[in-house]
Amino acid sequence: MKTKNHTPRQKPEASVVDAPRAVLFDAYGTLFDVYSVGELAEQLFPGHGQALSVLWRDKQIEYTRLVTTCNNGARYQPFWELTRAALIYAIKRIVGPTHPAGINAIFDTEIDRLLNQYRHLSAFPENRQVLIDLKARGIVTGVLSNAEPTMLDMAVRSAGFEGLLDHVLSVDTVRKYKTHPDAYALGEQATGLPASQIVFVSSNTWDSLGATWYGYQTLWVNRYHLPFEELGTYPTRTGSNLRDVLNFFPTTPLSFN
Ligand code: LAC
Repeated sequence: MKTKNHTPRQKPEASVVDAPRAVLFDAYGTLFDVYSVGELAEQLFPGHGQALSVLWRDKQIEYTRLVTTCNNGARYQPFWELTRAALIYAIKRIVGPTHPAGINAIFDTEIDRLLNQYRHLSAFPENRQVLIDLKARGIVTGVLSNAEPTMLDMAVRSAGFEGLLDHVLSVDTVRKYKTHPDAYALGEQATGLPASQIVFVSSNTWDSLGATWYGYQTLWVNRYHLPFEELGTYPTRTGSNLRDVLNFFPTTPLSFN
């Protein structure tokens, strides 16, 4: 009697992670330090700078979600408008209670100064060299941001990033903010690569989560030792600054056929 050949069949390759070929960065909080406005806020509103800049940021993001999810996006407003509205709200909420005129106090000069500062945010110190190193390794680079193109252009120029980014992508073209899938799809459309071959880098937990759910490989840059979101999905990797994105790539330039 013939014995059956029990040579185990070759197992299908255990899910091989695609080698990434591009990196897309979130802008505010990731490339550009949004909390640097806190210093000016503290100068303008002593004792309130920290609380004000945190609430400003949280409210700004909350507004992006409101206008994207309500009425199927019919209430869309550009990021700059939402940023301004969020600042006014934050001042009323944080400063109002301690001001003689209450929440109706007028702070036009302070608002202008803070918005102007927001236009010229500083970049985190390591970021420029990381972009240079990625270019040296033959990696496609870009920004995928909620901000409209004029805001991004200005931020990219003040940080000296011109020439280091292949794509500067704004959700303004689809009028839906991250974490809407139409916003994340811009990265695939611009690079011509599937999300699985792109590393999406963000310091924001919600953005890292949204991008991971969309299908990107993700690096969450956890600069402030914060916990990640508790929704059962985690980024592909976590780092402490932007340099950690280089670990996704070999040091010799990649050649693709
Ligand atoms: C950006 C903000 C949300 O998209 O960080 O750049």
